[in-house]
Amino acid sequence: MLKNKIALVTGGAAGIGRAICQQLGAEGASVAVVDFNREAGEECVAELEKSGIEAFFIACDVSNEEQVRAMVAAVLERYGRLDIACNNAAVSRGSGPIHQFTREVFDQTLELCLTNTWLCMKYEIEAMLASGGGSIVNISSNASLR
Ligand SMILES: NC(=O)c1ccc[n+]([C@@H]2O[C@H](COP(=O)([O-])OP(=O)(O)OC[C@H]3O[C@@H](n4cnc5c(N)ncnc54)[C@H](O)[C@@H]3O)[C@@H](O)[C@H]2O)c1
Repeated sequence: MLKNKIALVTGGAAGIGRAICQQLGAEGASVAVVDFNREAGEECVAELEKSGIEAFFIACDVSNEEQVRAMVAAVLERYGRLDIACNNAAVSRGSGPIHQFTREVFDQTLELCLTNTWLCMKYEIEAMLASGGGSIVNISSNASLR
């Protein structure tokens, strides 16, 4: 059970991230739903609250360092610590044989799927260390293994 735990989920407004928010909340965590889609994020928070889950929305584009810093600061301001971070936000540029992709698509894929996750961890780890620790789960893809 995750009672009294503070969780943050990037890309939490839709798809897999939204399901992760629901599961963390169902297990007792308070959930910060992070997304650059404000409308979907606020709708997700309303749905979580309807189920009795403590949640709030943070508008953030995880490719923007200042916004990522502010994302973690918003969690600390509201709850005083961060226990769980799930870095899930990413946009697929497709996958397939290397010779069929351009350098531009490869660079975008690294930025959207890897660099942004690293950036989130940079600030999440700093916050977690300050309060004695925490857990980070990064969502990846089979595509990264192929
Ligand atoms: N769906 C699949 O079949 C699949 C397969 C392999 C890996 N994944 C991985 O799972 C994760 C979630 O995938 P999904 O299918 O649920 O995606 P989705 O497109 O349904 O949802 C992604 C969410 O992330 C948000 N988002 C995207 N970029 C963002 C950014 N820069 N800043 C803030 N928010 C951002 C979007 O607004 C959206 O709400 C991704 O990391 C994806 O690579 C998904």
